[in-house]
Amino acid sequence: MRENKLKEIYKTIDTGTAQEKMANLPKFPKIIEFEITNHCNFNCIMCPTGIGTARRERGYMSDAIFHKVIDEIAEHKVALKFVGQGESLLHPKAIEYIAEASARGIITHLTTNGSLLTEEMMKAMVDGPILDSIKFSFQGIDAEGYEILRQKDGFSDLMKKIKRLFEMRGEKEKPYITIGTSITNEKNEAIDDFIENAGKICDKVEVGMTNLETSELSLVKNDRNREKLIELRSKQVMNKKRYVCCPQVYDTITVRWNGDITACCGDIHGLMNLGNMATSSIADCWNGDKEFAYRKVLAEGRYTDVEACKNCYDVYGWTYGDN
Ligand SMILES: C[S@@+](CC[C@H](N)C(=O)[O-])C[C@H]1O[C@@H](n2cnc3c(N)ncnc32)[C@H](O)[C@@H]1O
Ligand code: SF4
Repeated sequence: MRENKLKEIYKTIDTGTAQEKMANLPKFPKIIEFEITNHCNFNCIMCPTGIGTARRERGYMSDAIFHKVIDEIAEHKVALKFVGQGESLLHPKAIEYIAEASARGIITHLTTNGSLLTEEMMKAMVDGPILDSIKFSFQGIDAEGYEILRQKDGFSDLMKKIKRLFEMRGEKEKPYITIGTSITNEKNEAIDDFIENAGKICDKVEVGMTNLETSELSLVKNDRNREKLIELRSKQVMNKKRYVCCPQVYDTITVRWNGDITACCGDIHGLMNLGNMATSSIADCWNGDKEFAYRKVLAEGRYTDVEACKNCYDVYGWTYGDN
């Protein structure tokens, strides 16, 4: 059976308590969450980027920062995940960057809304091959649910595109294809149907929970979608379980488009910044006092002591998963 190249790394991340991880910290993070842009072409109402509440300046990564990151990580066996608070494929050099990282022996992953993926890009991914793993993001399990949260009528076009990539890839080695969605209060039978249908055109289907608390009602301009959001919120029972062990600070680090290095990929406002690639390095930040302090606080379960962690929950019901 086909396996995701990142699976071995995910497995080690999923193993152990925070205390065990503190005692056996890797010398270098196993995964780099890599945000080459925080611009986005969508306005999803559940997303701080889409709704415009993310406070960080927006921009695109420069070649200089990209190369500094690649040069540092190439000597380690790490995975580079092209994902952040924006849509990576908006960066004009996204495919070039993925190809270069891959050529340097780095395991590569892309999480995307899929809208900007062209036939040419798919060909590069499959024939290069330059990408180990790709995850397409949906919201909801049908066209209506998708349209409400993503404010775009894109469900069936995205499904068609994934089917095309799945067929182009066929038995070839790469990329491993995942369809990921998050739900609110959909019925189990409908969720099962989605999983069955989506499963025919990808290698793995993941269903998590949509966090509607990140949305801001007054910023949803479309009246129908705002009313729907109120209704969805009133019905949703959020899974407010904390992670058994934070999936970020013990194994992963995040690099932003401007070179900022932060302790968590979900740190929307840059509150957990550890340094910047211009004056520091991933290794220095990973082994620095700030990162160590976050690890200690979270190992003691003091989530509410860290502003960015206060409202962070295991909405996928796993420690890390293949996301
Ligand atoms: C911030 S997006 C960035 C990548 C890309 N633009 C995309 O949509 O896949 C990363 C992931 O976060 C998910 N996401 C964003 N806001 C969410 C929320 N409030 N609840 C659950 N998932 C969310 C998206 O569906 C996507 O899978
Ligand atoms: S979820 Fe992804 S596609 Fe939607 S607004 Fe956020 S970054 Fe953009």
